[in-house]
Amino acid sequence: MIDVRALAESELRTSHDLFLRALLRRPVSDENWARTSGRLVAGRVLGAFDGGELVGTARATANELAVPGGRVAAGAVTGVGVRADRTRRGVLRGLMRAQLDEVRQRGEPVAMLHASEAGIYERFGYGVASRHRKVELERARVVFRDDAPRGGQVRVLDRGAAEPLLPGIYQRCAVDRAGWIGRDEPWWSGFWQYLGDGVVVAVHTGEDGVDDGFAVYEPKHGERGTSVDVHDLKGADATAVAELWRFLLGVDLADRVVGHVRPLDEPLEWWLTDRRQCRVTEVEDDLWVRLVDVLGALRARTYGAAEPVVVEVRDAFLPDNAGGYRIGPDGVERSTAAPQLGLDVSALAALYLGDQLASTLVAAGRVEVRDPAAVTAADRLFATLETPWCGTGF
Ligand SMILES: CC(C)(COP(=O)(O)OP(=O)(O)OC[C@H]1O[C@@H](n2cnc3c(N)ncnc32)[C@H](O)[C@@H]1OP(=O)(O)O)[C@@H](O)C(=O)NCCC(=O)NCCS
Repeated sequence: MIDVRALAESELRTSHDLFLRALLRRPVSDENWARTSGRLVAGRVLGAFDGGELVGTARATANELAVPGGRVAAGAVTGVGVRADRTRRGVLRGLMRAQLDEVRQRGEPVAMLHASEAGIYERFGYGVASRHRKVELERARVVFRDDAPRGGQVRVLDRGAAEPLLPGIYQRCAVDRAGWIGRDEPWWSGFWQYLGDGVVVAVHTGEDGVDDGFAVYEPKHGERGTSVDVHDLKGADATAVAELWRFLLGVDLADRVVGHVRPLDEPLEWWLTDRRQCRVTEVEDDLWVRLVDVLGALRARTYGAAEPVVVEVRDAFLPDNAGGYRIGPDGVERSTAAPQLGLDVSALAALYLGDQLASTLVAAGRVEVRDPAAVTAADRLFATLETPWCGTGF
């Protein structure tokens, strides 16, 4: 019998070590615990016990998620791990149930996470809500076009000087793009700890004298030569982002620049004379979203101009969400009218931030069509101009 309960302050470090062990990493050192502990909020760290022994853990923190036309309160789920000798016995299932109940009780209509493996979370109602790409560029072959945006200055800072600046710049960057989430002080503390000492920070200042973008990168020396690995790059506008890329691709002695976790619609290839020099080497799932309170979550976003559509949502894990929803530009209501489309709550996550069109999910077999006219309407209702992107690990 597995018991799940919120852990006391005194149990948090043990639970964090259990999580690190599950990820095949070492237990936390005293120094790293001092930097990490702020991210474990007592009351939101759950422990699963078998015969009184801690065998699994999962935690969440309060955050917000940008959705089309607004923001929604979201529980950011992380620190999920089960002791290796207790896996596949329902420990995670017990943790997920308790955690989704807790998220709901706190009034967060949405839970979100980054998944270690893609096969785990759909059964609990999570679905891929945004994706990101990895790009690699051979520096010697890259030439920027004359019409690529230009303006402002880039300066290099050491870590100590950059640490106090970056939170403010982040707030100015892409806060309206669906998928954006907040980064609080404990997040930044964990970020610097994770990166280590080798990182360099470039900051862009716009023509108005305001810092409006940054890149956090790390030179790496390997068998394929020297690369500049870009861990984080954010800009308030296209000029800031283009200038940061221009800077990174101009760093002497680097053979290659590798951009991790970049948005799918970043126009990097459009800024180059030879677009093939921007090689996309990975496209992966970014943010997984769980609509915990389907009505509340759907009401938090706006919709495009189209006829309203009645959608039947299935939700085996949180069955009180199941039923019809009338979704239109004028708002969202529960509905008992005949449903035109039907889908699982995990597939709804793929529409929620605008990552996928309803018609793509129809072709994928994830949306059932009872009224064909509703497919185009749903495409127009859910579509967004910008591709969703989170770009923040947690
Ligand atoms: C992933 C992990 C948390 C699963 O815990 P668990 O206690 O074994 O999971 P459960 O026994 O509750 O399994 C629930 C369901 O998920 C499935 N499942 C569990 N882990 C899975 C995985 N890695 N891939 C695919 N399916 C998985 C189980 O088969 C079970 O399926 P069912 O609903 O058909 O019965 C655990 O294996 C672990 O700690 N892994 C290493 C750390 C990690 O990856 N953490 C996640 C960080 S995002």
